[in-house]
Amino acid sequence: MENLRPSIIAGNWKMYKTIEEACSFIKTIGEILPTIDAEVLLAVSFTALKPCIETAEKMNLKIGAQNMNDATEGAFTGEIAARMLQDVGAQFVLLGHSERRKLFHEDDTFINRKVLRALEAHILPILCVGETFEEREDGKTEEVLSRQLQEGLNGVEGVSKLYIAYEPVWAIGTGRAATAEIAEEAHAFIRRTLQELYGEEFAQKVVILYGGSVSPDNADSFLKEEDVDGLLIGSASLKTESFAKILALCKNSEPNVESEEP
Ligand code: PGA
Repeated sequence: MENLRPSIIAGNWKMYKTIEEACSFIKTIGEILPTIDAEVLLAVSFTALKPCIETAEKMNLKIGAQNMNDATEGAFTGEIAARMLQDVGAQFVLLGHSERRKLFHEDDTFINRKVLRALEAHILPILCVGETFEEREDGKTEEVLSRQLQEGLNGVEGVSKLYIAYEPVWAIGTGRAATAEIAEEAHAFIRRTLQELYGEEFAQKVVILYGGSVSPDNADSFLKEEDVDGLLIGSASLKTESFAKILALCKNSEPNVESEEP
């Protein structure tokens, strides 16, 4: 079946960039965005959200957050609620990133509550799932993905707009990306699982991103796969050169002013 889903290129800046660095990056990238036929997203730090949203105004660029709390408000020192993200104008939020799961001990039920809260606040959740190296070695990849999806999406209705990011933990920040075949196999499994949960229409529409050591050298191999709708990029999204090279893979076919076509 032809993949009619849009291409998505998302950057995850993690705990990098001051406001000035973030805005200067956006201005540089903003110059090539009109030539790119993809939805482009950047997950920035909380402190940079507002300035980035203002800088990206009128650009084909969505600015979002990397995390949030599941509570609507309350005595949770240091936390950020969905309505605060909504208030600042964040358009999406990464949830369940493996660094949050591992370093901050987030489990599927906690992540699930955040997904529900984000949807209530009309912020697009990007639910990150993925197996560790040991789980893959033990043949448990599908079991883990299935659990993370079922529990992470518990109570979510099939009409909801959300993205999934498949990020094998062993490929994140290691320089050891999955092969395109491994990614496609996992993405197809995720889509089948979502089909069982929500039916064919939802499964065909839902966007599934691949993340884990994506670089300008391997990005194209993933984008060619049927069930890979886009990329979630960490370190290669931090430099304008490497991010621009990946974006250039999605150049639109419309002739632009410099075109040599008559
Ligand atoms: P990486 O990070 O591209 O540096 O592996 C991906 C991610 O953590 O989303």
